Amino acid sequence: MSVTALAPATVANLGPGFDVIGMAIDGIGDTVTVSHSAEPGVHIASIAGDDGRLPTDPALNTAAIAAAETMKAAGIETGLSIDLEKGLPLCSGLGSSAASAVAAAFATNQLLGSPLRKLDLIGPCMEAEAVVAGRHADNVAPALLGGLVLIRSTDPLDVVRLPIPEGLTVVVVTPQMDLPTKEARAVLPDVVPLKMMVAATAQVASLVSACYSGDLSLLSRSLEDPVVTPARIGLIPGGEAALAAALGSGALGASISGAGPSLFALCRSERSARSTALAMKAAVEENGVSARAHISPANCPGVRRL
Ligand code: HSE
Repeated sequence: MSVTALAPATVANLGPGFDVIGMAIDGIGDTVTVSHSAEPGVHIASIAGDDGRLPTDPALNTAAIAAAETMKAAGIETGLSIDLEKGLPLCSGLGSSAASAVAAAFATNQLLGSPLRKLDLIGPCMEAEAVVAGRHADNVAPALLGGLVLIRSTDPLDVVRLPIPEGLTVVVVTPQMDLPTKEARAVLPDVVPLKMMVAATAQVASLVSACYSGDLSLLSRSLEDPVVTPARIGLIPGGEAALAAALGSGALGASISGAGPSLFALCRSERSARSTALAMKAAVEENGVSARAHISPANCPGVRRL
């Protein structure tokens, strides 16, 4: 018997919400099939779509780690075999490692007879993320739960689903280059001046408030991030220009998706998203890096069984 699951891409941080806010994206994701195996432990049977770049060592692969951690959390020991199909580019800021972990954890749990709730899978997926990208849940939580998620705390785990204003549409533009999360985290300041902390806190609070009230003008003012984005934007060729192009084409706001190099914009409608996508892609490509644009509703489901 086997179970196949698809986990979506995610936009982490959503501007000012570094490590605490993330959103699921529709139409792109990773697919994992988990099967029973006579061999004890978890092993990777195949990986497709990664150009041979991902480790097949189960101790280093996020799908295998998440599957093993899910078994541990459920108190079950059995042999599992994993087939991973990467739909997401690696090191792209779209939550690629998280999507593999989430699809694997979800499929493993279903194969074992669903002993755990979706919320219980966040911990096992975070263990997998910790190995490759640092311990944070702003990709794994929305990839599991769907929609827009606030992570108030990872220890103990406390996550909140946020409402999403009607019609809100996301543009994601992905420059065709790698930016490993570890590198993008290494440029961040260890210490932030109190004034900056005040500005960042105000932005996150008003972003959450705008989600509840549906006030798009407030949402638009709340997407600017005073701390992390300025430190990272120089790592992305054409990044500054793409964010300016998004605003120039009528987007509500724009910032880096997760650790980058992908960039995202929030738009009032699909029509507005289409012109924003073209403007952002052109701005990146003017800097000599080709880019792909993707448009998704902001309100998307999380992981699902195929
Ligand atoms: N919140 C994380 C970061 C997301 O910005 O480093 C990485 O995927």
